[in-house]
Amino acid sequence: MSKITVVEVGPRDGWQNLKQMLTFEQKTDLIDRMIQAGVQEMEVTSFVSPKAIPQMADAAQLAAYVLEKYPDVKFYALAPNFRGVQNAYNAGIRHISYVVSVSETHNKANVRRTHEESLSELSQILETYPDAEVCIGMATALGCPFEGILPLEKVLAFTQRLYDIGCRSLYLADTIGIADPRQTRETVKACLEQFPDVEWQVHIHDTRNMGMTNTLAAIECGITKVQSTLGGLGGCPFAPGASGNTATEDLVYMLERMGYETGINFDKLLEASKYQKSFVDGIYSGHQMNIQTNNPPCS
Ligand code: COA
Ligand code: ZN
Repeated sequence: MSKITVVEVGPRDGWQNLKQMLTFEQKTDLIDRMIQAGVQEMEVTSFVSPKAIPQMADAAQLAAYVLEKYPDVKFYALAPNFRGVQNAYNAGIRHISYVVSVSETHNKANVRRTHEESLSELSQILETYPDAEVCIGMATALGCPFEGILPLEKVLAFTQRLYDIGCRSLYLADTIGIADPRQTRETVKACLEQFPDVEWQVHIHDTRNMGMTNTLAAIECGITKVQSTLGGLGGCPFAPGASGNTATEDLVYMLERMGYETGINFDKLLEASKYQKSFVDGIYSGHQMNIQTNNPPCS
């Protein structure tokens, strides 16, 4: 049966939206447990302004910890600008998630840049760091808090621009969890058909309980790499309207039941999620063990 890589993005997307500040030890403890459960790829932090996201202020320290302890795990870090990539690179990170929104309105709200500005900074990044994998987080590709569902042509045209710059690793994000399975299928199919040599991923929020169905729709169209967060935490503080992400434990349960191979042990992951719930406050249960913040919804 086919292998699906589940990229755990909770340490970035899940924790960035918490009101409560997690300690470094709480973070490393949770990361250790997720890796012990079998997680092989993780977005571990973001190199952003600590004023914008105070929770990520320990990015360099966290990168140093995980890179030394787990040389075989693939660690991504998110960066919104050249400076973030530079800091990530200097901290030893070689897999960067560079976030740019397909909707220019959201791009301005999130990273305070026009498309031109984000893309010219991206060219500079690719030129300066040819040995880094730069995966583009195409925020709002499946729905925007300001512009709604974007036309597919717009998503494809924006993908073409990224492709022409040289990007071969991209992910489609449903930033506020408003996509549906048919739309997801149509978008993913078109992207895979038109850009078959891109490594595609999806990043799907779960506002309407469609995180699992949309992720599955993407997988059934040929996507083999999907993002999710422990406990379903998540959200971007600069995108009003979303709740958490697809919960990793739910996703692993479904995929393993269906015969896909994730390499992740469900029971151990569920333990990690329960452990997270034991000290992460300001949360409520959505699904069984799907904990989410009470913060205003986001990316
Ligand atoms: N790492 C650390 N600090 C950064 C930074 C980075 N990558 N990029 C900018 N900064 C700091 C600047 O030093 C400055 O700090 P100061 O106010 O103490 O002088 C402040 O952020 C604003 O810098 P400026 O150059 O005016 O802004 P910018 O346009 O380059 O950057 C953002 C602004 C968008 C990068 C910044 O607001 C940010 O990191 N936002 C978080 C975005 C995010 O994480 N969204 C959710 C995930 S998708
Ligand atoms: Zn997100």
